[in-house]
Amino acid sequence: MHPNNTLFVGKVLLRYPELPSTNAYFQEWLSRERPAEGAVVQADHQTQGRGQMGQSWFSPAGKNLTFSTLFYPSFLPPHKSFLLTKVVALATRQAVAEITGENAWIKWPNDIYLNDKKIAGILLQASLQGSRLQYAIAGIGLNVNQTHFPAALTRASSLALLTGRIYDLDDLRNQILAYLERWYLQARAGELTTIDQAFLEHLYLRHQPARFQRPDGTVFTGSIQGVDAVGRLVVQRDQTQESFDLKEVSLLEAVHSDKN
Ligand code: BTN
Repeated sequence: MHPNNTLFVGKVLLRYPELPSTNAYFQEWLSRERPAEGAVVQADHQTQGRGQMGQSWFSPAGKNLTFSTLFYPSFLPPHKSFLLTKVVALATRQAVAEITGENAWIKWPNDIYLNDKKIAGILLQASLQGSRLQYAIAGIGLNVNQTHFPAALTRASSLALLTGRIYDLDDLRNQILAYLERWYLQARAGELTTIDQAFLEHLYLRHQPARFQRPDGTVFTGSIQGVDAVGRLVVQRDQTQESFDLKEVSLLEAVHSDKN
């Protein structure tokens, strides 16, 4: 059941039929002890799954992957914490691409897309101690064998729906954990160029005209160039480049030449 090709990620692996949230589980655990780096907590069902920006993450029991991995990235100053987002997104993307045989994309800041649909979300929760990152909990929710989605979630899908196959959850989780360790060790070794390049290479809709929306509802067209040093999205609009953080913009869709 544990991945057999890792040094530390997934060596401690706790699996529960039901938990409120695997990220919350680690927060509580960390308030009492210092679990081993690379420890993984997986739930077959979460009753209070958390998403980005205070949202909830719903996943039916036994169909999908919902798990969290613990890191102690003391080598990273807090303003570089986006590197961890890259690490987790790259690992998830790579495992999905390998297992499905399809190209998967990282939708900024940390969703995974397959065929223009969201199949996974990442929730990274880090804690500071002085000027260093004390710990980081990397939560991954990957829709694998779920075949029905609420109609309101127009962009959500799963590997099963998109590829017509059913996947073994343990194999997929182990593959993600193996890649998580690889990318994390690269980050720790300071191989940032490799990570940045891979992130750019797999960034969803990079260099393609797309529509974006500001929090006030206004919509504009631009094209993603990449991310800046602190992980803000860099968008080219006419002759200027603008950087946005998570609360400042959302990416709506690609602008296809047959539209407008
Ligand atoms: C998103 O909003 O896209 C991020 C979703 C992250 C969900 C995962 S499931 C495992 C971990 N535990 C949680 O409560 N959330 C994350």
